[in-house]
Amino acid sequence: MKGKFPQDFMWGGATAANQVEGAYDQDGKGLSIVDAIPGGKDRLKIVSSPEFDFTLDPANHTYPNHKGIDHYHRFQEDIALFAEMGFKCYRFSIAWTRIYPNGVEQEPEEAGLKHYDQVIDACIAHGIEPVITISHYEMPLHLATAFGGWKNRELIGHFERFARTVLTRYGHKVKYWMTFNEINSAAHFPIMSQGLTVKTGALEAQAKFQAWHNQFVASSLAVKIAHETNAQIQIGCMILFATNYAYDCNPVNQLETLKETQAFNFYCADVQAGGKYPYYAKSLWQSQGVELDIQPGDLELIKQHTVDYIGFSYYMSSTINKTNPDAVTAQGNLLGGARNPFLEASDWGWEIDPVGLRIALNQLYDRYEKPLFIVENGLGAVDKPDENHYIADDYRINYLRQHIEAMAEAIEDGVELMGYTPWGCIDLVSMSTGEMSKRYGLIYVDLDDKISGTGNRYRKKSFHWYQKVIATNGEDI
Ligand code: BG6
Repeated sequence: MKGKFPQDFMWGGATAANQVEGAYDQDGKGLSIVDAIPGGKDRLKIVSSPEFDFTLDPANHTYPNHKGIDHYHRFQEDIALFAEMGFKCYRFSIAWTRIYPNGVEQEPEEAGLKHYDQVIDACIAHGIEPVITISHYEMPLHLATAFGGWKNRELIGHFERFARTVLTRYGHKVKYWMTFNEINSAAHFPIMSQGLTVKTGALEAQAKFQAWHNQFVASSLAVKIAHETNAQIQIGCMILFATNYAYDCNPVNQLETLKETQAFNFYCADVQAGGKYPYYAKSLWQSQGVELDIQPGDLELIKQHTVDYIGFSYYMSSTINKTNPDAVTAQGNLLGGARNPFLEASDWGWEIDPVGLRIALNQLYDRYEKPLFIVENGLGAVDKPDENHYIADDYRINYLRQHIEAMAEAIEDGVELMGYTPWGCIDLVSMSTGEMSKRYGLIYVDLDDKISGTGNRYRKKSFHWYQKVIATNGEDI
């Protein structure tokens, strides 16, 4: 692995406010959508039911995000551990509801702003570059319940105010930003990024595509504000990328794979990075009966304020099958599809595919020719600590090592890769299941699915391994 990674390569780790902070009702914070989503393996099923309307039901459900890993109070200790690993950057998100509790207030909460001042300053004191996601699956609950989520155009103004507040407050010391986390994930779970329930349009293409349009306009406004605030800022989009394979060489499956890749992997980034709706958008809308409300000025904004880099998450590939009714489905793979017989899967059924990452990097760079930033990747696994709280997580090391090798190969292919922030660098609450036991961390947090335990932090074997990877700039993996 000699000399593959550029000298300024941004090695780090990633979290999101709602999955680590806890303190869900402290210092003026309002409720976010995730605060009203129960934990448990069937979490995404519960929110997809026609009855679900964010009513809190503590008698029958647990809400693990309320406590998280208490990063809100323990961020100094956590960031010191990241520094010990040698992190060059730390990706985290700002909880919108700490700044605007219901999303609609005209004045921000100073306590919330102060908190992120401290988080940013702690990073900088350790020589860690903050990388901030403005909105990571944690929109104010009020914007979902009273406005019906992102399909409502009024959210653009509320988001713009939030983005302006944080970009002007922190934009002189934070250089790297992203607008919406996994903006395209709404194709599969629209509740998280668009705040849509079945009652408010989660199953309607019209609602999803309108929500995306409103988010594209909002994202362009954030890019505009960022660049006006500080010309040094680099602000990216953030998409969930799953390399698609056709199940076989049947042209029908190949065509379906092409269509799925456009509709899922590229649609949002084509607009945010390319500055316009792609050629296939019209037929995509027509085939689903979508008629977009595009207001005067929207397309100009989108054109003028494109993102500087492509941030993306990569966990798995997906195998597209239209013609083989007997193909086994990939149980558990977040994005569904057929079971790929060439791949192993995680304990949660996510198919592990480092070669797919090299393909993803090449496909994205080929299309956009903008720097790429892998802002999430990792293995959710069950960790069993020994009596000294030590976890020999060789399975996680193997996963990360294979993906880092794929990154090095892609760099040799000519891809421009800025950095790598493995997901959940410290154990946190899972997005899709609300579990603590689905652990990604290099740092173990002693909490169970009910968020009971000491909350103490322990270095896993992967902590020491990643420390060495960073120290040698990816040469000794
Ligand atoms: C991404 C999200 O989809 O994957 C994160 O941006 C999430 O919020 C991560 O936690 C891993 O997913 P999960 O469901 O295993 O937590």
